[in-house]
Amino acid sequence: MKRDLLTPLDFSKEELDRLFLLADDIEAHPEKYAHACEGKKLATLFYEPSTRTRLSIETAMLNLGGRTMGFADANSSSAAKGETVADTIRVISNFADIAAIRHPKEGAATVAAQYATIPIINAGDGGHQHPTQTLTDLTTIRKLRGGLDNLTIGLCGDLKFGRTVHSLVSAMCRYENIRFVFISPPELRMPDYVTDVLRDRGIPYKEVTMLEDSIGELDILYMTRVQKERFFNEEDYIRLKDFYILDERKLAMAKSDCYILHPLPRITEIAPEVDNDPRAAYFLQVHYGVMIRMATILTLLDITVH
Ligand code: NCD
Repeated sequence: MKRDLLTPLDFSKEELDRLFLLADDIEAHPEKYAHACEGKKLATLFYEPSTRTRLSIETAMLNLGGRTMGFADANSSSAAKGETVADTIRVISNFADIAAIRHPKEGAATVAAQYATIPIINAGDGGHQHPTQTLTDLTTIRKLRGGLDNLTIGLCGDLKFGRTVHSLVSAMCRYENIRFVFISPPELRMPDYVTDVLRDRGIPYKEVTMLEDSIGELDILYMTRVQKERFFNEEDYIRLKDFYILDERKLAMAKSDCYILHPLPRITEIAPEVDNDPRAAYFLQVHYGVMIRMATILTLLDITVH
């Protein structure tokens, strides 16, 4: 049976623990893993813009001694001729051993996984999910805070269209004593399908509009960009795009161990002056992203390194 990574819940909590330990070992002994994927190929099928995710997954495969191929622009693939994802992935299954797909439509990776005979990694499907970003976020939080229990997590910005926040909330729900603070303009609130799960499971959360009002209670502040490409009209985007700007003044109200995460790309929502604060962890996330994606590729390909 092949395994896919379509949502963060595809790995059990115990499997995630093993994944974190593997990522730790990869970080400590990279040479041990340098040939683990020799002879294997990763295909990256990116129908939407990306810098980090695609290059991070490709770097992960290259670090494991494997090779990569793919496209970074749907216009240069047969999608431009009208080919379906189902057909494309059936073809790619003949070329590669594993594939990562990013697509503007929610559910595209799930369709790909149904037709593929190789493991599929969802590298972002529309405004829905982004599980490898979540693994990156969990790795970073675990490293900085020493664990994933007992945290008040603030998520700020575009909670409606931001797939990274949907995935992060669903993954964090499985840990003990977690509280969420959702900070967004009313138009960009967290979708009901996310808050319904929290309500059903009795996980505390609150929704606020002003960052200043709750920044002081947070252990993690996860900032996000307003997702321009998912807006229906330009006017709304322009009205909302600078709603939150985290600067030194606001950060001064945060706890001394409240770490700031962001999946990147950052536009205006974090002022560059914050980058030098020891709590700014968004470039560190990029580092851990490669380690955890290496661990993910090894796990999905069922490769064990001794
Ligand atoms: C995110 C994404 O693509 O959803 N970027 C990323 O993968 N690191 C966040 C974003 O684009 O805002």
